[in-house]
Amino acid sequence: MNFAEKLRHNGQLVESKLEELLNDVNRTGAPERLVAAMRHGMLGGGKRLRPFLVIESAALFDVPSERTLACAVAVELVHGYSLIHDDLPAMDDDQLRRGKPTVWAAFDEWTAILAGDALQALAFQVLADTAISGNCDGLSAITLTRELAAASGAAGMVGGQAIDLESEKLSIPATPNVDHVTNLQAMKTGRLIRFSCEAGAVLAGHTGPERAALRQFGEHLGVAFQIADDLLDAEGDAERVGKAVAKDTEAGKATLVSLMGIDAAREALTRALNQAKAELKMFGKRAETLIAAAEFVASRDH
Ligand code: IPE
Ligand code: IPE
Ligand code: MG
Ligand code: MG
Ligand code: MG
Repeated sequence: MNFAEKLRHNGQLVESKLEELLNDVNRTGAPERLVAAMRHGMLGGGKRLRPFLVIESAALFDVPSERTLACAVAVELVHGYSLIHDDLPAMDDDQLRRGKPTVWAAFDEWTAILAGDALQALAFQVLADTAISGNCDGLSAITLTRELAAASGAAGMVGGQAIDLESEKLSIPATPNVDHVTNLQAMKTGRLIRFSCEAGAVLAGHTGPERAALRQFGEHLGVAFQIADDLLDAEGDAERVGKAVAKDTEAGKATLVSLMGIDAAREALTRALNQAKAELKMFGKRAETLIAAAEFVASRDH
């Protein structure tokens, strides 16, 4: 399989698992409208890049996808919840996501808030279940739970979102510089991507240089990913991207594109891509899928 086929194949595994989980939620007596909003946010869209990174980083160590899928889906659930909340009027106020109306626009704000909350809880339930079912050993499962919580929380994605919005809405700091933006992006976007890459080593029971290399790979990949997102906002095609573009400029948001200009941002993206790839040297040819993933991140048009 080439990269595009693998991305599609893994995406289908993720879609089916999400479908199964959300059907289970429905059977537990959760309110129908809430479940409908969760389904709207999670199913039928998205690149599924974070799950891909979990599955393919574990595949470096021959961990089969049946054993990695639950963790892959857990990080996608956190990511999906973060997008539902990110689109709310109180945050980025967006009406289009993954080519469809955002959850708040299709339902309402309180339903979108609660759907996000429930998806976050479901992510941790799924991770805990991997140990209970015996699909994952207890120490790996608890390590992944802890790391996903750290990547998602106040010093991770949520913290990054807070700094992003403080900057945009309260002008704190008054003149954000490149370091400020780089740090907030590493938090809001980078942490979940880094978690996804590192998870492969954890699932394989590696704690040494393999895990450190994947963590560093994920760190650089996260930087590249958000610069690419900001470039898409500046020059992407809304239909292809599946969300509104030119929103960052409209909101006066500080990004590397607004601070450095398109060309310098593109150079920073290439630097981050090369740093990411360099971290995979120890894996030799086995890392070719992850290298292809990094190249996809840097050149994507959606
Ligand atoms: C968008 O993430 C939000 C950011 C963290 C920049 P993706 O570009 O991965 O969105 P989907 O999952 O493919 O919709
Ligand atoms: C959001 O960043 C990152 C999250 C943690 C959800 P953006 O606000 O730039 O993401 P998009 O452009 O709406 O997808
Ligand atoms: Mg945002
Ligand atoms: Mg947004
Ligand atoms: Mg964006």
